[in-house]
Amino acid sequence: MSREIGVAVVGTGFVASMHLTALARLPGVRVVGVVDVDPGRGQAAARGAGTRWTSSLDELLAWPDVDGCIVCTPNDTHAAIGQSIAAAGKHLLMEKPLTTDVAAADSLVSAFSARGLVLMAAHTHRFADYGRIVKHTIDAGEIGRPVFIRLAILGGWIWPDWRAWVLDPKRSGGHVFHNGVHVLDLATWWAGDQPVSVYAQGRKETSGDLAIYDYLSLLVRYRSGCTAVCEISRGNRPRTFGYRDVFVQGTTGSLSMPWDAEQGIAFLEGGTSLLPGDGQVGFDREVAAWISAIRGETLPAVTGEDGRLSVAMAAAGEASLRTGECVTLESVGYTLPNPVASEGVSRAL
Ligand SMILES: NC(=O)c1ccc[n+]([C@@H]2O[C@H](COP(=O)([O-])OP(=O)(O)OC[C@H]3O[C@@H](n4cnc5c(N)ncnc54)[C@H](O)[C@@H]3O)[C@@H](O)[C@H]2O)c1
Repeated sequence: MSREIGVAVVGTGFVASMHLTALARLPGVRVVGVVDVDPGRGQAAARGAGTRWTSSLDELLAWPDVDGCIVCTPNDTHAAIGQSIAAAGKHLLMEKPLTTDVAAADSLVSAFSARGLVLMAAHTHRFADYGRIVKHTIDAGEIGRPVFIRLAILGGWIWPDWRAWVLDPKRSGGHVFHNGVHVLDLATWWAGDQPVSVYAQGRKETSGDLAIYDYLSLLVRYRSGCTAVCEISRGNRPRTFGYRDVFVQGTTGSLSMPWDAEQGIAFLEGGTSLLPGDGQVGFDREVAAWISAIRGETLPAVTGEDGRLSVAMAAAGEASLRTGECVTLESVGYTLPNPVASEGVSRAL
């Protein structure tokens, strides 16, 4: 039987609870500690998980039973925390975005690959039912090669209380980094293609005083000529609003996955066919995939390179918001990876 994997959770706010729940359900895994700079949240999470708490990352990384960490801290802390984890020789599941700039993503990916450690970027939507169903339908060749993708994820909430750091672009990187990466990564995974440029437009729905755009429209161009139009918002009213829409046009057919329908539909020359209904969100599968990569059973389902690519798309998107121009990935410092390291971009789950 393979040995138990000890996991520590770094940052115990909103998203950490999803990871802790997923970890508790997974056999052969034990939560061996949590760290948070806020004692209240850290101690509460430790009590819930039946584990120990510290406020010091260095102390936690010195615990011998920590094999890997899941980092759930604000975006601007990811690069430094990730480097400490690499230096301590632990595996990492890094919440999105991998970092808030391309150079930091480059050096994080290098740090993990140099040590032969697993670095997985937590692009959770790839593990959700709807993300997988669309990917499988495309990869099975049912609609041919994607030429146009439309993905909208719209919501009404805006970050309250201690999570207000998201509204500070210096901490979150801006909304393209914070939530834009979800849609940019997913559309790119579906396209199975190399993105070339991003054109972004934003609106401030909640208030003109916001320092970020809480509605974004992102146009991605790919090397093959495929385009993706992605929308993401957190400012729709009413506050409880949530909506998602997917449409993919391929060279031989198309598919749609309206979020409120029981099933999606593939439109093919031979007629229409139904796609399975949406269900699971992806945290259980995501954590299981990371553990499997640590055990050496599978390659990481989302690689550090995939995370680095999303960071570059986000940097291009933020630059486009500032300049009003379409911005290439090359101009924000993104360099193409070598083919071996990039294999996670198009691999099916
Ligand atoms: N995959 C997803 O669907 C998803 C959803 C939400 C958030 N996220 C990502 O997860 C991360 C956390 O987001 P959240 O909404 O949980 O934020 P949060 O503010 O609720 O939680 C962050 C926690 O980190 C702690 N913290 C801050 N700096 C720290 C440090 N240096 N060391 C240790 N702890 C520290 C804070 O005290 C807080 O408890 C972000 O990167 C965010 O982008 C991902």
